[in-house]
Amino acid sequence: MPARIVVLVSGAGSNLQALLDADQHAFQIVGVVADRPEAQGLVRARSRDIPTLVVDPRDFPDRSAWDAALAHGIADWSPDWVVCAGFMRILGGAVLSAFSQRIVNTHPALLPAFPGAHGVRDALDYGVRVTGCTVHLIDAGVDTGPILGQAAVDVGTDDDVEAVHERIKVVERRLLVDIVTRLCSEGCTVDGRRVTIP
Ligand code: GAR
Repeated sequence: MPARIVVLVSGAGSNLQALLDADQHAFQIVGVVADRPEAQGLVRARSRDIPTLVVDPRDFPDRSAWDAALAHGIADWSPDWVVCAGFMRILGGAVLSAFSQRIVNTHPALLPAFPGAHGVRDALDYGVRVTGCTVHLIDAGVDTGPILGQAAVDVGTDDDVEAVHERIKVVERRLLVDIVTRLCSEGCTVDGRRVTIP
C-alpha cells in the first residue's frame, strides 16, 4: 500500500506539482491544505481531483484555534506523512504533537544557515557563493529539525534573489521527491539530530 501524504502549501505549489508528477508507487497524495484561498497549489491539486482544504488564520480568533483546526483537518485524511512544500507558517503544538517526527519541510537555504521566511534573500545579503535547499523533519523550532537531505547551488556575483530561488527550486523539487519517496517506502530512524533512511 502506498503511504498516505498530506501536502501543505501557501504559494505557487511547484514542489507540490513535482510530487503530483512523480511516480507515486510509494505514496499517494490524499489531501492538500493551504493557509490562503489564493494559493496556486490548490488549483494544481483540484486539477488532479485531490481533496483540498483552506485553513486561513484570518478565520480564527487566535493562533491556537487555527492550529487545532489545522490538526483536525489534516488528521481527517489519516496521513502517514505530512509534507510542508512552501507552507509559510510556523506549525503549532496541536499539529506537531499529532504528527510527531512525521512532518517534512523543505527550506530554500543550507540549514542551519539562513532559517526563516527569507532564506534566499538572507543568504544573498550575507554574500554567500554557495547556497541551496534543505529537506528536514519539523520540530518545535524554526527550521531546526533533523536534516534528511540537502542540495547545493552556486551563486554568481550578479545573481538576484529571484534567479537564485528559481535555481534552488530546480534541485529542491528533485530532492523533495526523492526523500519523500524513500521515507514513504522505507521509513526512517531518528537518533538525536541524525536521521537514517534504511
Ligand atoms: C520553496 O522554495 C520552499 O523551499 C520555500 O518556498 C518555496 C515554495 O515554492 N519555503 C520556505 O521558504 C519556507 N520557509 P513552491 O510554492 O513553488 O513550491
